[in-house]
Amino acid sequence: MIGRLNHVAIAVPDLAAAAAQYRGTLGAIVGPPQEEPDHGVTVVFITLPNTKIELLQPLGDASPLAGFLERNPGGGIHHICYEVEDILAARDHLKAAGARVLGTGEPKIGAHGKPVLFLHPKDFNGCLVELEQA
Ligand code: CO
Repeated sequence: MIGRLNHVAIAVPDLAAAAAQYRGTLGAIVGPPQEEPDHGVTVVFITLPNTKIELLQPLGDASPLAGFLERNPGGGIHHICYEVEDILAARDHLKAAGARVLGTGEPKIGAHGKPVLFLHPKDFNGCLVELEQA
């Protein structure tokens, strides 16, 4: 059911510093910061030949990233995103299999303008999973 790895997301305490490191030290193609108020994050996308890296910094007081960065003050891998062809079919299949879908269970529009859902990390070996309709 899952397809390509769309991105690996890394929570960072300083987005500008992390973007500069990927651009300068790692020599990557780094996009501009995008604010996503619906998700409580500011995002920078890094384009690699086979996937993307999503650098995430909290945006606003109620950011879902705040607790993660309290536990991991230096940053850390926050989630991985797999592509699916039909997000509603994927959701229904996962719910029937006992996986917990976060939030209302309805897809939100993600950073690429496509519908996304998140799955509970305790149901996937401690890894927060994002699904994006390709
Ligand atoms: Co993501």
